[in-house]
This record gives sequence, structure tokens and C-alpha cells, in this order.
Amino acid sequence: MALASSLVQVIIDAVRKTARPMVRDFGEVSQLQVSRKGPSDFVTAADLKAEQTLFELLTKARPGYGFLGEERGLVEGTDKTHTWIVDPIDGTTNFMHAMPHFAITVGLERAAPDGSREIVAGVTYNPIQNELFWAEKGKGCYLNDTRIRVAARRDLGDALISTGLPFQGRSGHAQAIREIHAVGQRVAGIRRLGSAALDLAWVAAGRYDAFWERGLKPWDVAAGILMIREAGGVISAIDEGGDPHDGASICAGGEDIQSRLLDVLRGV
Ligand code: IPD
Ligand code: CA
Repeated sequence: MALASSLVQVIIDAVRKTARPMVRDFGEVSQLQVSRKGPSDFVTAADLKAEQTLFELLTKARPGYGFLGEERGLVEGTDKTHTWIVDPIDGTTNFMHAMPHFAITVGLERAAPDGSREIVAGVTYNPIQNELFWAEKGKGCYLNDTRIRVAARRDLGDALISTGLPFQGRSGHAQAIREIHAVGQRVAGIRRLGSAALDLAWVAAGRYDAFWERGLKPWDVAAGILMIREAGGVISAIDEGGDPHDGASICAGGEDIQSRLLDVLRGV
């Protein structure tokens, strides 16, 4: 990546190295579909292995930074101001079903003296399509070597919107259906592809006009929050007063579409 700083390059190198065995594991997964038990244990092992690789590479490159991973939770560092926020496989269900839509996603959070936090670098990589989305605070958002921007559409009626649905065993199914009902009547189309990190990267690339979801976690959204902003878009919590960094409710898009979508969601 010609334009990436040494900090972003650290993340890119870690993510690419993690991706190599992951791509091989993904190849195995399609074979395992025919076994009665399915590939569940195999995928869990691939997930843990990927997080371990990221943990080792990132902590080696920046000793002292904290690490928050989907699998291991928070490992505090000596440097309390910097934390890697990592999801080794976002889109695990897709991976498990041999669907090539998943990503490794890494954000770097920096805490300000007043306690506020911001993401200063983020990378989301779909190793099957070799699409590497990355952003650095103040330096823009890129897909591989090309700068990307959110879509400029203003009319909700023309907009293609992405969302996510709760998994089995999680709450919020009825709410999600009500929201889809309300949004679906006003937009050109809705998609649910199964990776929130890629959903946000695809909004940053202008493929989707906007994205909303409830019940996400910090590692699903960390890199994407920065990507949306660096691509000229807006991201906020759906719930008033909420903080998008916790992922509890997220609405992202180009400025006009995001605010129109937010109005619809808040009216549900
Ligand atoms: C999930 C994906 C999915 C979203 C879920 C997440 P995982 O992450 O991002 O799109 O709808 O809420 O949990 O479990 O595949 O890492
Ligand atoms: Ca995830």
C-alpha cells in the first residue's frame, strides 16, 4: 500500500499473514459441509488460531498496547491509551457455510485525556476477494490502493441499504422485523450479507448507501467507524445519546441518507 503509514502497515501485514492459513481453512470448510456434524469445531479452531496470530503480531509490533478480541476479551497493556480492537473472523456463519463473505477486522482505539475514545486506524480484509479496506485518521479511506468515498445519493427512495438480524438465542428479533418493515417501504432495496465489518466497509466504498444494525459489539464496528468518517460519511448510534463505539445500535451512511434513515428508525 503505497500511501499507508508505518502504523497502518503494521496492521496490514498482520492481517495478511493471518489470512493465509485462514484461506486454506476456508477451502477445507466446503468439504466439511457433507459431514453430519458440520464444520463447527473446525471453524471455532480457525477463529481462535487467527486471533492468536493477530495477538502475537500486533503485540510484537507495538508492545504495551492493550488488546480487545472477540474470543479472548480484554488484555490490558501497559500503555492505557491504545487498544487494538479485533474480530478475527467477522461473518463466522458465512465462513461456516463456505460462503466467501467474511473478513478479518482490526481497529486501533486511542483514548483522549478526557476519557473520550476514537479510532485512529482500521483495516478490514476479505481474503477471498483480496479486498483490503483501510483508513487512518485524517488521511482518508482506501480499498487496496484506491481512495474511496461514501455514495452521494440523497433520496432514500434510490438507496440500497444493508442491515443485520439477530442470531438465534439473541433478543431483538421483533424489533428488527419492525425496522425492516418501516425501512423497506421507503428504500430501493435491503441486503443482509452477514458481516457487519464488511457492511460498513461497503458503505465507505459507496456500494451501499447506508447500514443499520442493533446488538453489535465494539470489534464488529471499530475499523468501520473510522472508514465511514474518513470516506466522508456519518455514523452514529440509532438510540439518542448512544455511543457508536459500543456497537449497541449503529446507523451509517452518506450525510443525507444517514439522517433520513435515522428518522425512519427512530420513528419505529
Ligand atoms: C456477526 C456479523 C453479522 C452481524 C452479527 C455479528 P460474527 O459477527 O457481523 O453480520 O449481524 O451481529 O455478531 O459473529 O460473524 O463475528
Ligand atoms: Ca463479528
